Amino acid sequence: MEITNVSEYQEIAKQKLPKMAYDYYASGAEDQWTLHENRFAFTKILFRPRILIDVSKIDMTTTVLGFKISMPIMIAPTAFQKMAHPEGEYATARAASAAGTIMTLSSWATSSVEEVASTGPGIRFFQLYVYKDRNVVAQLVRRAERAGFKAIALTVDTPKLGRREADIKNRFTLPPFLTLKNFEGLDLGKMDQADDSGLASYVAGQIDRSLSWKDVKWLQTITTLPILVKGVLTAEDTRIAVEAGAAGIIVSNHGARQLDYVPATIMALEEVVKAAQGRVPVFLDGGVRRGTDVFKALALGASGIFIGRPVVFSLAAEGEAGVRKVLSMLRDEFELTMALSGCRSLKEITRDHIVTEWDSPH
Ligand code: FNR
Repeated sequence: MEITNVSEYQEIAKQKLPKMAYDYYASGAEDQWTLHENRFAFTKILFRPRILIDVSKIDMTTTVLGFKISMPIMIAPTAFQKMAHPEGEYATARAASAAGTIMTLSSWATSSVEEVASTGPGIRFFQLYVYKDRNVVAQLVRRAERAGFKAIALTVDTPKLGRREADIKNRFTLPPFLTLKNFEGLDLGKMDQADDSGLASYVAGQIDRSLSWKDVKWLQTITTLPILVKGVLTAEDTRIAVEAGAAGIIVSNHGARQLDYVPATIMALEEVVKAAQGRVPVFLDGGVRRGTDVFKALALGASGIFIGRPVVFSLAAEGEAGVRKVLSMLRDEFELTMALSGCRSLKEITRDHIVTEWDSPH
């Protein structure tokens, strides 16, 4: 049957993938309240469309950290993409570049920065987890730079892994034929079986729980790449991030996989945008599944959004073609939303084009 929206790939992925892989991709932390809320909160925002505006030409292009892209829809880092499809991150990289948008490669990719670069041209960011061994981090950042990655997305919400109960029950671990490719030569590429989640044990062993704002400064001493701080949910941390030299903020709750009962990202967005005061761009990820969601995020001040699960689910279903289809469906839906709201360019999307349940009455 024909796929007509992004969410439909989830059911196909569920049927195709081994349970351990599907559960890893789909799960949120603990009660999964935030997982539900990431989607549900979008339903609390309604449109105030403007009519009789000539929308025969619509421009969705934008610039992110100086790089021109075709639309404000980008790809978030998700780990272990070869568990979804043999071509994994290669397929995602090609699909992103065909769509004229940015792919963020996970530190925990099953393809290395060099391998992804070898798929051809494209604007790519590298997501960084900071390991206890800072030589490992410095080497990896240098390799990402050399491979042509244009920014570092520093994930700051994972001093420990969130409690994803399905992964604990499944004793989640990477299938033996896969490795964390970026760390293979560094002897950190294997994930052992544990009596709970193998990934949680890996994180406990390798990831630096002492990471703090001074390390954001340190990172700037080892790279000239701009740093996006991924995982901000408050005004307070937004102000500190800007002062610490962040080039941008990603409002993210890690797809609801870390701390449960944090708000949906779309509800935290406006607070962060206000605190950023236009000094750096603010992006959002979490629960974006429709072109209308993209529009709502931009109306609340985001400069762009990233998608996570839709990429792994469509990869599992159809490989590169699936990821291409996800990007083109979101693009078409977003264009339609702009047309039906009377917006011809991203800068014409304003706060007045939406009303939220938490707005006071006009
Ligand atoms: C993630 N996410 C993530 N984030 C990160 O910084 N590094 C990573 O390696 C991963 N890996 C990862 C795997 C899987 C399977 C998921 C679902 C998520 C979080 C990701 O970048 C992003 O924040 C969320 O996925 C966005 O929410 P949606 O679009 O999945 O709802």
